[in-house]
Amino acid sequence: MRRATTIAKVRAAVRAWRRAGERVVFVPTMGNLHEGHMSLIDAAREHGERFIASIFVNPMQFGPNEDFAHYPRTPERDEHMLRAAGCDLMFMPDVEEMYPNGMGHATRVEVPELSDILCGEFRPGHFQGVTTVVARLLHICEPDAAVFGEKDFQQLTLIRRMVSDLCMSVRIIAAPTVRAADGLAMSSRNQYLTDAERARAPAVYRALRAAASRLAAGGREYDDIERQGLRALESEGFRVDYFAIKRAEDLGPPTPESRHLVVLTAAHLGKARLIDNVQVTL
Ligand code: PAF
Repeated sequence: MRRATTIAKVRAAVRAWRRAGERVVFVPTMGNLHEGHMSLIDAAREHGERFIASIFVNPMQFGPNEDFAHYPRTPERDEHMLRAAGCDLMFMPDVEEMYPNGMGHATRVEVPELSDILCGEFRPGHFQGVTTVVARLLHICEPDAAVFGEKDFQQLTLIRRMVSDLCMSVRIIAAPTVRAADGLAMSSRNQYLTDAERARAPAVYRALRAAASRLAAGGREYDDIERQGLRALESEGFRVDYFAIKRAEDLGPPTPESRHLVVLTAAHLGKARLIDNVQVTL
């Protein structure tokens, strides 16, 4: 596995592969890799001959009171895991390489509306930081395909929109959420949970599944289903940002004709903010 910290080195490697007719698949990450990331890498393997993973904790997507400084960073372990997974190139830029004119002066990419709902309402500026860094990473790596996890469903939806709006020639591949045996979605932020909180955390997936079951059984009282989910989480001690039913295609409000829905939630438990979602096809 090659290791690159500069854009020039990534470009040289990718262009040589592409000249040789090899398809390049890209997996962007913020490091602290876990089983969830490994599933993105497995998905990547099915779509090309070469794959690149980036590790960059992007300051632009963290709010002033968020966990940028404390976000878990485990570069040696990440490198070892990527090597073992057969990754061809690990791109680990520093902040200056990604934002050479300073973050405050960087050109930004913003998907309107979609960036302001759900998590965007509670984390102002977050998605602009995500789409800006992902646009830069896609231009740097020039991949044929890039893989994103369905756990960050809103992020995935925004990136699909950005790629379509900006006519970027990259295929976006969605990788299913990886869960612990008790249903908790894998996330680096699960490390913030105490043992007692970790024992309560599967309530998130239970509440989402209960809502999805009501929808699958023909329930259309969206407000009531959302309220029930919110109460279920509050009664387990969560502080809930939202518990919402949306159309899966574009995160718009569901209508009786909608056939593909997604139930999404973000809820705080102790120091952790957990997000998760379940899709329902009717
Ligand atoms: O999902 C993440 O880890 C990040 O938001 C991403 C896509 C790597 C951009 O920083």
